[in-house]
Amino acid sequence: MHTPKREGFRGLLSLLVLHGPNLNLLGKREPSIYGSMTLDSITRQLEQSAESLRVKLSSLQSNHEGALVDAIHAALGQHQGILINAGAYTHTSVAIRDAIAAVAIPTVEVHLSNLYRRETFRHHSYIAPVAIGQISGFGADSYRLGLEALVHYLNHTEG
Ligand code: DQA
Repeated sequence: MHTPKREGFRGLLSLLVLHGPNLNLLGKREPSIYGSMTLDSITRQLEQSAESLRVKLSSLQSNHEGALVDAIHAALGQHQGILINAGAYTHTSVAIRDAIAAVAIPTVEVHLSNLYRRETFRHHSYIAPVAIGQISGFGADSYRLGLEALVHYLNHTEG
């Protein structure tokens, strides 16, 4: 029988939402690929989903690899799950991959664009092997779908 992970967990689940480089420019940045929503409006939409899922979110965007690594380390003992769009670091960062592996916090990887319909250098993700799963190609909805998948995983998977 599956024991929900949430049983025995006191209070609301707290999740960390991380956005990597250039995602601060969403809305202006290549809208034909990434859509016209700003990061602020994606965050507001995600907050609404979080409220109906009864989880708490903390969001951070950084253009700096080390700041993202630091945030992943700081999540230990604070957050039960991580939702990450590492942007271009997805394809380059062993450090972010290692940080996720080190803290062993369940992580879902999301991308606005469908990586596999794009340049071949975007087809490889360093994050994917240390993530529960990846959602790619649904625009801003990738974040909502990723959040739902993460919360479902945390609520229904044996810990
Ligand atoms: C992205 C895809 C990456 O290849 C790119 O470098 C980004 C955004 C996405 O959300 O589609 O910055 O992660």
